[in-house]
Amino acid sequence: MITFILNNQLIQTEEPAGMVLLDFIRYKMHLMGTKAGCREGDCGACTVLEGYLENGEVRYKSIVSCLTPLGNVQGKHIVTIEGLQKDKMSPVQQAMVDNAATQCGFCTPGFVMSLTAHSLSPEKSTPEKVVHAISGNICRCTGYNSIKHAAGDIAAVLAKKDKKDPLDWLIKEAFLPEYFRSIADRLKKIKVKIIEDKVGKTVGGGTDLFVQQADALAVANLYFLKEDKVQADAYAIGIEKDICRIGGAVTASEIMQHPVLQHYFPKMKEYFKLISSEPIRNMATVAGNIVNASPIADLVIFFLALNAEIHMQSASGTKRNIPLRKFYTGYKQFVLRPDEKIISLSFRLPEKAAFNFEKVSKRQHLDIASVNSAMLLQLNGDTVETIYLSAGGVYAWPFYAEKTVEFIRGKKFSPELVFEATEVLLSEIAPISDIRGSKEYKSLLLRQLFLTHFVEMFPQQFTPEVLFSKIMAL
Ligand SMILES: Cc1cc2nc3c(=O)[nH]c(=O)nc-3n(C[C@H](O)[C@H](O)[C@H](O)COP(=O)(O)OP(=O)(O)OC[C@H]3O[C@@H](n4cnc5c(N)ncnc54)[C@H](O)[C@@H]3O)c2cc1C
Ligand code: FES
Ligand code: FES
Repeated sequence: MITFILNNQLIQTEEPAGMVLLDFIRYKMHLMGTKAGCREGDCGACTVLEGYLENGEVRYKSIVSCLTPLGNVQGKHIVTIEGLQKDKMSPVQQAMVDNAATQCGFCTPGFVMSLTAHSLSPEKSTPEKVVHAISGNICRCTGYNSIKHAAGDIAAVLAKKDKKDPLDWLIKEAFLPEYFRSIADRLKKIKVKIIEDKVGKTVGGGTDLFVQQADALAVANLYFLKEDKVQADAYAIGIEKDICRIGGAVTASEIMQHPVLQHYFPKMKEYFKLISSEPIRNMATVAGNIVNASPIADLVIFFLALNAEIHMQSASGTKRNIPLRKFYTGYKQFVLRPDEKIISLSFRLPEKAAFNFEKVSKRQHLDIASVNSAMLLQLNGDTVETIYLSAGGVYAWPFYAEKTVEFIRGKKFSPELVFEATEVLLSEIAPISDIRGSKEYKSLLLRQLFLTHFVEMFPQQFTPEVLFSKIMAL
């Protein structure tokens, strides 16, 4: 039995845990406002709100219902466009109407849900942030400008939000219906089923699994790591001294918003905004990114350059650790055994080291990388003491540039060294030509990203003049 609240109604269903929420909403509950578009997490037409308890209060985020299995909504509050119904339009809906931001209307419920999720966010609203909140929504009709204008109007209203009691303010201002006041108490009463079957296929956020095999998974034996409250390590970010441990079921959004991580990685938000879209980041877990084993997996590239270690556990409880750089053995192949789960990964926080992440894709947002790369570098005087370098899209799996790192480490740091290292880097990769670019293009891109790391980290030494003269000499 799966129990959750859908809009204002308690749901207790025997439908399979692998059924996607979109199908449950539309075909079991006959709520047709949530649209079925791509069913691949790309268009945002199926966006709903997911509310969950945190420190006794309900926090809301946008998710795509087409990739969310029912097993992941246990004990949550799911809100569809019908769940915002009141006797007058909300300021979000009104702004869409006032700015002619809806034409055929197919995308509109998804936009309204993403914008409503933004209005519930504790962050201060700006027009730019409102636009980011709809990064996962596609509209074929409007050309977006009218939606951007609506976003501006919404930000202006939200600027007046009462920070002391935002829920009360949002209800009084008609963003939300009155019943939202009762949700926290109602969620506290729900007993989430403890998941004991650890031999089933592990589901993180479902953003890879349910794109690939939604029909088969609807009837499969599944294990929802995020709901297994016994595995506390799996859904928490813990920091002890200079070691950070991130649970396998922690999402990209949770990492991006973590204040301590933002301190150590000041450009964290910039980096992570390049990864998928807001609703996908709200669902996508670290372990899912690792086990999906895509050669361009962004989170893997990020953590490879932090020399992260993975912590795995078998169904019988046996634990083992392995460096992330030793995890992959071939295309989509890795050392994780079928009965093992990734519980967490850990890495040393870069106290004195410089760090940079770069990603190039065909479009800036909501796209996977053509090539991505990350690097950590620490100097001792003018000598390179520590360096880790990763690159995606240039090998059969997310690549750790062992030879380049060996070449640079311990040497005197200079532009000459970096340009010599470029040759080593290009000799150890093996890109293939595919839809994301030819192998020559990917090699060129990686060279540029490698140099960009130095420009970002050491702008005094790596000026455009130095780079230009060196590149011309190649
Ligand atoms: C529209 C869209 C855009 C995307 N954009 C990007 C992007 O820009 N960059 C990027 O890197 N990825 C992107 N992805 C891919 C995906 O979101 C990520 O790979 C994500 O991190 C997968 O995590 P998940 O929790 O959703 O994985 P799931 O789909 O739940 O699982 C993926 C795999 O991991 C396994 N697994 C999950 N958790 C564990 C665990 N704890 N232990 C062992 N095995 C486990 C599952 O069994 C499955 O084999 C995108 C996906 C979509 C749909
Ligand atoms: S239907 Fe397109 S994102 Fe879900
Ligand atoms: S109004 Fe038609 S798709 Fe957006």
